[in-house]
Amino acid sequence: MGDAPYAPLAGRTIVLCITGGIAAYKAPLIVRSLASRGAHVDCILTEAAAQFVTPLSLQSLTGRPIYTRMFPVEHQRSYEIEHISLADKADLVLVAPATANCLARLAHGMADDLVTATVLATKAPVLLCPSMNVNMYEHPATRANLATLRNRGLEILEPEQGFLACGWEGKGRLPEPERIAAEVVRLTSPQDLAGLKILITCGPTCEDIDPVRFITNRSTGKMGAALVEAACLRGAEVTVISGPVALKYAPWARVVDVRSASEMLAAVKEGLDGVDVLIMAAAVADYVPKEYQRRKIKKGRSEMSALELRPSPDILATIKPLKDKRFFVGFAAETDDLKENALEKMKRKGLDMIVANRVGEEGSGFASATNSGILLSADGTQEVFEHVEKTMLAHTILDKIRGAW
Ligand code: C5P
Repeated sequence: MGDAPYAPLAGRTIVLCITGGIAAYKAPLIVRSLASRGAHVDCILTEAAAQFVTPLSLQSLTGRPIYTRMFPVEHQRSYEIEHISLADKADLVLVAPATANCLARLAHGMADDLVTATVLATKAPVLLCPSMNVNMYEHPATRANLATLRNRGLEILEPEQGFLACGWEGKGRLPEPERIAAEVVRLTSPQDLAGLKILITCGPTCEDIDPVRFITNRSTGKMGAALVEAACLRGAEVTVISGPVALKYAPWARVVDVRSASEMLAAVKEGLDGVDVLIMAAAVADYVPKEYQRRKIKKGRSEMSALELRPSPDILATIKPLKDKRFFVGFAAETDDLKENALEKMKRKGLDMIVANRVGEEGSGFASATNSGILLSADGTQEVFEHVEKTMLAHTILDKIRGAW
């Protein structure tokens, strides 16, 4: 498994069309978000957009010419017809922000500037990010234009709710550049998991002792979140059952929050219906307090007598009889005898695959961005991974599931 940085837009050309709303000031950040994922970005600016953000700023960030005019006196690139060459070379055309005026012109198939002409001429997917005053957004004319464009197959990323530059509060804010870039990655990713329903458990569980204290572990949910994002990008329908975590999951997943191992078990049982693949990436507690104390245990002067624990329900072992044709993946976090322990777990829990992680060392396991260990399959195949980014590892795990499915 390679250790190259994860660049999902490497080799892709994104044509970013910027139209003239105040949110155009976010365009340089959108360029950065796309470029950091490996994309080449070509920018088209309308005349109005150039009032908000300068071609020079964008050119400095992209290192490429910026396109502003439909009929330049001097051609910017050889003697190509710009709106056709940009439309042809794009892997995706992104319009952000897309103003009400731009949407109206696109809905009518107009092609009277470089943005509208490029959108009309391209065969690539088009993603529109509307952004405007809430009343303009909610106006029946804009609603109808968006419906027309959606029916024609253009993708629309809805604006967000919040304070708007015009002083109003409501729907109309351009989503953050990272959210827009994530949508671009999804729309340019191969949809090789389309039609697959995947249930993923993530994070730690918290087992309450009293209203103040609880037992938990070092899991942050990073590995699970990487799997959630990768599966969504590749077209799977993903439900996450998550213990308490600080991170945010990919916006396309349905998230069910739980706290304890027994809550997670109940949610997994309920969520299993219609699911093709279950990935148990959660670090479920092994032991839970025997009894929950409803009143806070008071601090004493002497040593506290032992805290009594009982084993938690083993989720995988409990649902083993419900497996049927589903593909079950487990995780094993080990400090010693990684392979032996993982193989034993895979057999005992009836798994099709197990991801054995080394924990307790730098660059692997809990809270780390990278992971080391072995991927073991019930068919006997094995793959060692060393300090691989969790994002990359997530894709490899999904490749294997897809291959075996
Ligand atoms: O037995 P161990 O906890 O090491 O097994 C790890 C695997 O089993 C993980 O996939 C974890 O999500 C799952 N597990 C479980 N129920 C538990 C503990 C762990 O399903 N109570």
